[in-house]
Formats: sequence, structure tokens, C-alpha cells
Amino acid sequence: MRLGHFDALKPICPACRINGQQEALRIEEVLLEEGGHILQARILCAACFREFPVIDGIPILLPDVRGYIQQNALALLMRQDLGAPLRSLVGDCLGPTGPYEQARLYLSSYADEHWGDLEPGSSLCVGSVQRVMGVGLELAGPVSGPRLDLGCSLGRTTFLSASQTEDLCLGVDLNFSMLSTAGRILRGGEVAYDRRRLGIVYDPVRFGVTMPGAERVDFWLADAATPPFADGSFSVVSSLNLIDCLPSPAGHPEVLAQLLRPGGRAILCTPFDWAPHATAIEGWLGGHSQRGPDRGASEPVLRNLLIQAGFSTVALHDRVPWSIRLHARSSMSYEVELWVGERA
Ligand SMILES: C[S@@+](CC[C@H](N)C(=O)[O-])C[C@H]1O[C@@H](n2cnc3c(N)ncnc32)[C@H](O)[C@@H]1O
Repeated sequence: MRLGHFDALKPICPACRINGQQEALRIEEVLLEEGGHILQARILCAACFREFPVIDGIPILLPDVRGYIQQNALALLMRQDLGAPLRSLVGDCLGPTGPYEQARLYLSSYADEHWGDLEPGSSLCVGSVQRVMGVGLELAGPVSGPRLDLGCSLGRTTFLSASQTEDLCLGVDLNFSMLSTAGRILRGGEVAYDRRRLGIVYDPVRFGVTMPGAERVDFWLADAATPPFADGSFSVVSSLNLIDCLPSPAGHPEVLAQLLRPGGRAILCTPFDWAPHATAIEGWLGGHSQRGPDRGASEPVLRNLLIQAGFSTVALHDRVPWSIRLHARSSMSYEVELWVGERA
């Protein structure tokens, strides 16, 4: 976590925010700092006295920190020092089911998609998300002020945004493993992850990158549904392939509008890939009830919500390719709807 981002973005307590209060957070205790990054610290809300840890440079700013730590202990306490043969051995022992393999697979797919194209000699067909973000940023145009990348995963799109502005850029996600990998890229310029070949066979990948504008980037762990920011904190908010991962997608346009300053731009894309493990069917925007007025379509439902939230459409691209590599012989392809809007 960079002090400059904390001071400029002035995060508020996400728990108090739920009760309609905007209480500033303060850094209570710094335990470890390196090269301008706070790696371990305690952040405090002076109103409700909740504590928020900074672990491996990632501040965890959630209303229910205790619940998150209980459910994500494996990722939070994962050792970084094991060599590739031992990681492989541990993976073999744990087998193909369970949280370790789930996390490893998810990280491999998104690390490839975000960073695989920069590996020297890479022949992977990856990088579609930065192409989508590139189109979105171009359509959004030059807007000055801080930028927020919600559901940033391994952060390539946050870096892309930073390369096109002089303002601060913040990537926010709920996945600690992804954010800590992004944080290591930010601090050391080294991309390191295990790439899935097949089954539970993974090959270590390691290479250096230089990202223009990296000094303006930071990564925080926060929930897109309860972001720890005062209203109107950002000039650009991106939400790429996130809305169909949220438990309550209908509330997302309203959150985007709250985060943006008047005249700010939102960039949203989605494949409308509804899945019950992420969103109960009652929360889906379309994708069911094909006998209803929208015949089960998702697109008009989302657009109505965006209008209700106070957005006007700047641009809409119906089918933009986006894909995710699963292993050496498999990837999933989507055509996402990309929408750019302006907050009234
Ligand atoms: C389908 S992935 C898309 C990642 C990235 N934006 C991209 O397009 O490559 C969805 C991302 O959203 C994150 N996510 C899911 N629910 C979230 C929430 N409530 N708040 C913040 N991030 C969330 C996931 O951890 C994951 O990184």
C-alpha cells in the first residue's frame, strides 16, 4: 500500500459506510515498510474501532474482516518461499479438489490473461482483457482525476489505465492471491506464477516487466458492493467482467454512480455469464423468465438500471471478444458487451 494513495483517496470505514456514515480511516501502526510501500500495518476506524490489516502490502478494507480472514486463511497465510518442485508436490498431495487447487487454477488463468503476452517469446493467445480496457478507455476519453478499477484481478488493466493518465489509479479486488501477485509485480517488476499445463501439472513462470505509470498504481482488497470511499471520489471507474460475479448485480450501477464525480465516466463490460455459485437466480439481470417482457435478455435490464442510476450512454459495443486460458489445450471464449457511460 502506498501512503500517497491512502492520503489522497482518504478511504472511509466500509462498515460505517453501510450505516450511512463516512468515517475516515487512519493508519494506526506500521509494522513493515519497504521501498515506499507499507507491507504490514494496522488501519483503524476511530468511530467504530474496527481494525483493518495490511498484509503483504494489501490493505483489507472490508466491513467483515473477521469473516474474510476466517474464509481465506489459506490464501492469506500461503507460503511464498517454496520452490517449484515442492509446490508441485504439495499440489499432488492435495489433489484436484479443494481450495488450494481452485485458487491455483484461477490464478493461473487470470495471470496468463493479464501478463502472459509479456513473457519473452510468448506464443499464448492471451491479452484480450487489456484490449477491452483499451477500447473502453479510448471511448471514455481524457478525464482528469483518480481512477478506480473494480475487480482488477492481477491488475494489468489498472497499469494500462495508469499509462494513460497523470492521476492515481487504484485496483480493487476480493481475491487476496491475485492482489498479492499484482502487488509483487508493482513493487519488484517481476511476474511470477504457476501456469497450468494440464490436470494438476503446473509450470513455473517468471519474467521481468517495466510498466509505465506504475508509480501511480496501488492495489487494495475491498468489496465492490461496499467500496471504502466517499461519494464522488473518482473520475473514471472501470468494472470489467465483474457484475455477473456479484451477489447483487442490480445494485452495481448505483455504486458506480456514487463513486463517480459528476461528469465522470464508467467503463463496464460483461459476458452476462450468470452462475448460481456467484449470484442466486433471483439476483440475475435477465437470464431467466423468457416469457417476460424482456424475453430473458440481460442487456435491456442492465441498461435500464444504468439509466436509473443517472448515467447517459457514451458508447456501446455489443460483441467484444474476451477469453480466458484454462490449460495448454483449452480456453473459454466470450463476447462481452462493453458500455461506457457518463454520470450526470
Ligand atoms: C471474471 S473476473 C474478471 C477479472 C478482470 N476484471 C478481467 O476482466 O480479467 C472477476 C473478478 O472480480 C473479482 N470479484 C468478485 N467479486 C468481487 C467483489 N464483490 N468485489 C471486488 N472484486 C470482486 C474476482 O476476484 C475476480 O478477480
